[in-house]
Amino acid sequence: MHQYRFQTHGPEETGLLAHKLAAQLLPGDILAMSGNLASGKTTFTQGLTAFFEIKEYALSPTFTYINEYHGEKQDIIHIDAYRLNSGEELISMGIWEYFESGAIVIIEWADIVAGAIPEDAFGLSFRAVIGAENSRDILIHSPRALEISL
Ligand SMILES: Nc1ncnc2c1ncn2[C@@H]1O[C@H](COP(=O)(O)OP(=O)(O)OP(=O)(O)O)[C@@H](O)[C@H]1O
Ligand SMILES: [Mg+2]
Repeated sequence: MHQYRFQTHGPEETGLLAHKLAAQLLPGDILAMSGNLASGKTTFTQGLTAFFEIKEYALSPTFTYINEYHGEKQDIIHIDAYRLNSGEELISMGIWEYFESGAIVIIEWADIVAGAIPEDAFGLSFRAVIGAENSRDILIHSPRALEISL
């Protein structure tokens, strides 16, 4: 698994990184995001939905768990696992149908539901940079090392 490491210096830059990744994603790809509150997971997701020209604005689906975005060319499923307790809970919500639907599936707080996430998912971890309010360290683990360039 190949790992890319970035530091962004504002939400716009995080959005640009999301575009770069989005351009190389395939239908059915899964993005497992981890990182604290306000570390940039939803901001990155907004960059992805913008890339696929989805008109709705992606908000953290904290109260609904799952948002579905339908794009002309690509659907995106956005899951927030913050209030879930285990992978089994996500499985009981029908996650496998989403995985098999051809949608790109984004999961915030993926570590909480790790048991439900396939091994070939992308792993994205977000971290605030101490002493730099608008900076974020973003690690991207690609399951397709040689096929993705960021
Ligand atoms: N470099 C950066 N990248 C992303 N967001 C940034 C950056 N610098 C500042 N921000 C701000 O940090 C906040 C990130 O919020 P966001 O909702 O994306 O976090 P989150 O990880 O989804 O949090 P939660 O776990 O609560 O859902 C936004 O207010 C954004 O404007
Ligand atoms: Mg969020």
